[in-house]
Amino acid sequence: MSSKVRKTIIAGNWKMHKTVAEAQALAEAVLQGVAKELAGEALPDIILCPTYVSLPAVLNVVNAPDGKTANKQNCFVGAQNMEHRDSGAFTGEIAPGMLTHLGVTHVILGHSERRQFFGETNQGVNLKTKAALAHKLVPIVCVGETLDEREGGLTDQVIRRQVAAAVEDLSAEEVAKIVVAYEPVWAIGTGKNCESPEANRVCKMIRSTINELYGTSVADGIPVLYGGSVKGSTIDEQMAQSDIDGALVGGASLKAEEFLPIIKGGAKRLKLMATKA
Ligand code: 13P
Repeated sequence: MSSKVRKTIIAGNWKMHKTVAEAQALAEAVLQGVAKELAGEALPDIILCPTYVSLPAVLNVVNAPDGKTANKQNCFVGAQNMEHRDSGAFTGEIAPGMLTHLGVTHVILGHSERRQFFGETNQGVNLKTKAALAHKLVPIVCVGETLDEREGGLTDQVIRRQVAAAVEDLSAEEVAKIVVAYEPVWAIGTGKNCESPEANRVCKMIRSTINELYGTSVADGIPVLYGGSVKGSTIDEQMAQSDIDGALVGGASLKAEEFLPIIKGGAKRLKLMATKA
C-alpha cells in the first residue's frame, strides 16, 4: 500500500488550556520557530487547535502578513468540536458555519474526552462528520479503545465499529476528505505510548476498514494520525511507520519548544516518503 500521496499532518490539540493571550503567544512561538528552524524545508500540514475563544487570535497569527511566520500554506487552525446543526436554540454550542466564517478549516470530532465526559456517541460523530464536510471543514475523526477494551481483546472490533459508524452514509468523495486519528484512550495524557508497531498495525486496520467500505483509492489517500503521549523523543519512530501519517498531540503541543521537534519529525517523514517514492 503506497503512502506517497498522503499528507503528513502534525496537529496540536490544546484542549482546555491557555487564555487568549497565551494562545496567541504560543501560536507566534510555534510559527516563528518553524520559520527559523525549518526554513526552506518541505513542511507537514501544521494544525493548531485552540479553544473556541482563542480561534480568532490564533487565526490572526497564522494569517499575519509580516512574513516572520511559517509558510501559511502549511499552517491551519482547527476547532476541537462543534455542533452538527446550523443554528437554533442550542445554548452553549458552536455551529459549523460560525467556524468557517472565521477561517477555521479543520475540526477535531469524537475525541475520547468528548465521548467519555460529554456523552458523544458514534452516531453523534457521524452527524458531525457529515456537517463538517457539508461546510467544507476537514474532520479529524478520533477513534480509540479504552484500557478495558484493549485488555479484553476488543481493540480491533471497537476501532472498526467507530470508523464504520463515523463514515456511515457518506459518499466515497466525502470520505476521501477526512482525516482519522487513532488515539488509544489509555495512552492519552498518561506518558504511556502505544508501541509504534502496534500503533501502525491499528492505523493499517483503520485504512483496511475504509478500504472494505470505499475501496483502495479512497483508503490509500486518507491520512491516519496517531495520538497519545507523542513527544519529541517518540516522533521519529512513529513517523518511520508505513501507515502513521502524522500525529495529534496534546500535552507536548502546549510549549513551542516541545512541539517544534514533533513538527520536525513530520518534516523528516516527508523526506523519507520522497526517497521511497
Ligand atoms: P497527549 O499527547 O497529552 O497524550 O494527548 C493526546 C490527545 O488527546 C490529542 O488529541
